Amino acid sequence: KAGLVVLISGRGSNLQSILDACADGSLAAEVRAVISNRPGVYGLERARAAGVPALELDHRDFADRASFEAALAERIDRYAPDLVILAGFMRILETGFCQHYRGRMLNIHPSLLPKFRGTHTHERAIAAGETEHGASIHFVTPELDGGPVFAQAVVPVLAGDDADTLAARVLEQEHRLYPQAIDWCARGRVRLDGDGVLFDGEPLQQPRRL
Ligand code: GAR
Repeated sequence: KAGLVVLISGRGSNLQSILDACADGSLAAEVRAVISNRPGVYGLERARAAGVPALELDHRDFADRASFEAALAERIDRYAPDLVILAGFMRILETGFCQHYRGRMLNIHPSLLPKFRGTHTHERAIAAGETEHGASIHFVTPELDGGPVFAQAVVPVLAGDDADTLAARVLEQEHRLYPQAIDWCARGRVRLDGDGVLFDGEPLQQPRRL
């Protein structure tokens, strides 16, 4: 089974969907550890409830990004994961860290990338008059939310939506999307190849829509 280390900053609902999918066998992986840069968040309790080591590494305890990231990499590498999974991890990661995990670190982002990189994606999608919105899974590269995307889930933007109603509609899809996308990587079906993605050995032209 592929080993995962999951990085979180908050409530961990995506973490929960990954833990559940590992438990029911639909995701061919095991979560070896969960690390949060914010102490005391609910996602850590979810990890403990699943019998998974739950580590706190408060970025505020470090003088700069580089020393935080060195400590983070040291903790991650203790568990020798095949994949590092960012699941609501809200710290920017610098180039060296991204290079170290290149091809084995995934992120979920709540927009249809390349639209709406960064934060407040739901507000911005509504303000832009989008009729479709969603979530994307991408390999992490040094460019923020800019790595190759290989899977997306799409939802409609409905009349009367606000950021909360739209976020909830997207989140429901995130919980379906991320375990499936991780499973593809865990089984070696999806691989980073240069700046592109191979799906079953063939260059992927468009993200798979799930
Ligand atoms: C999710 O919506 C995820 O897509 C988003 O944070 C939320 C975390 O929820 N991630 C980002 O915005 C990354 N920049 P969760 O803690 O319940 O999984």
